[in-house]
Amino acid sequence: MRLSDRMSRLGTETAFEVLARARALEAEGRNIVHLEIGEPDFDTPHTIIDAGVRALQNGYTHYTPSSGIPALLEAIAHDATMRRGIAFTPSEVVVTPGGKPIMFYALLALADTGSEVLYPNPGFPIYESMINFSGAKAVPIPMLEDHDFSPDVPQLLSHINEKTRLIILNSPHNPTGSALSYAELEAIAAEVVKYPDLMVLSDEIYSRMLYEGSHVSIASFPGMKERTIILDGFSKIYAMTGWRLGYGIMPEELAKHISRLMTNSNSCTAAFTQMAGVEALTGPQTASEEMVEEFRKRRDHIVAGLNSIKGISCRTPKGAFYVFPNIRETGKTSKEFADLLLYEGGVAALAGTAFGSYGEGYLRFSYANSIEQIQIAIERINAVVNRAAV
Ligand SMILES: Cc1ncc(COP(=O)(O)O)c(C=O)c1O
Repeated sequence: MRLSDRMSRLGTETAFEVLARARALEAEGRNIVHLEIGEPDFDTPHTIIDAGVRALQNGYTHYTPSSGIPALLEAIAHDATMRRGIAFTPSEVVVTPGGKPIMFYALLALADTGSEVLYPNPGFPIYESMINFSGAKAVPIPMLEDHDFSPDVPQLLSHINEKTRLIILNSPHNPTGSALSYAELEAIAAEVVKYPDLMVLSDEIYSRMLYEGSHVSIASFPGMKERTIILDGFSKIYAMTGWRLGYGIMPEELAKHISRLMTNSNSCTAAFTQMAGVEALTGPQTASEEMVEEFRKRRDHIVAGLNSIKGISCRTPKGAFYVFPNIRETGKTSKEFADLLLYEGGVAALAGTAFGSYGEGYLRFSYANSIEQIQIAIERINAVVNRAAV
């Protein structure tokens, strides 16, 4: 079959491929601890499920406006205003099936052949994939351990030029769990406002999963609300990955274009899912808060466990539900080590390189699994490391 040239530039997300390999091993009778996939192991809170079911029964089974149902746009604008301290209006919001399409649409709307886009590396793999697909040049922002997995800001700023159309930031960060500081965001914002055609895609999907300090959006700095597309959604904080519900908040003029991209692709997000989203934002928040508290305990458990293994060292992440341990001392590459863990140890994890070339020497574990399962994983990893050292 003859595919378009652009398909050769499209990447993928390895987590789904590793999950498939782990499931194949399980089908053969092997026991696998799943630490590969980036989704909460909790169920969607029942109040949200009830709202979704009610919506279906009440006729929310039709198309909705492309940018979203007005009640949800209102709820998102209000929630974002309260949480980020910036006044947002419903006309600045576009609802999408998950947060991911916002990356796709932002790049389609803003980047061209000849444009440059800065993105975190290691980082969520879809950024690099989509930048390449759009035809723009992907310029990595290294997120290195000796910089606490944050960007070297002067180096980042030195990459900005007249061709730079978009800077992608992600805080808290997948895969390292790092978070950008106020000073780092302030310095980036001060430079961005000097370039009239430069925008920031601020992926804040983990903003409510922060264990130290409070979340700051780059949109809150002077002149930045007009330059920022905030990506957020319901998948992580409300354990709603399968509902497919996310959104972008952006200048109204851009929202119209992103909405047009929605009309051209999805038409709209599922109506009952949107109504469940209204309940998620306006109803009780206790289930989310308890989930985040549980993640904090698991984070502490997995960090201590990994650091007790010879040859592995792991920083304490500030947010999200991932750890990114350094495995260089084992003498294995990330891929070799991830494969060894899966096939010999029965632990599914991702190679750091699944998040970009700067991820070599690391693994990513998602700690969206019970403390008991995490403990079993630690013991299995320890056994694999000891066997490999013989
Ligand atoms: C950094 C980051 N952004 C966005 C997403 C997209 O989430 P969804 O499309 O499920 O809302 C993910 C999911 O793993 C993520 O890790």
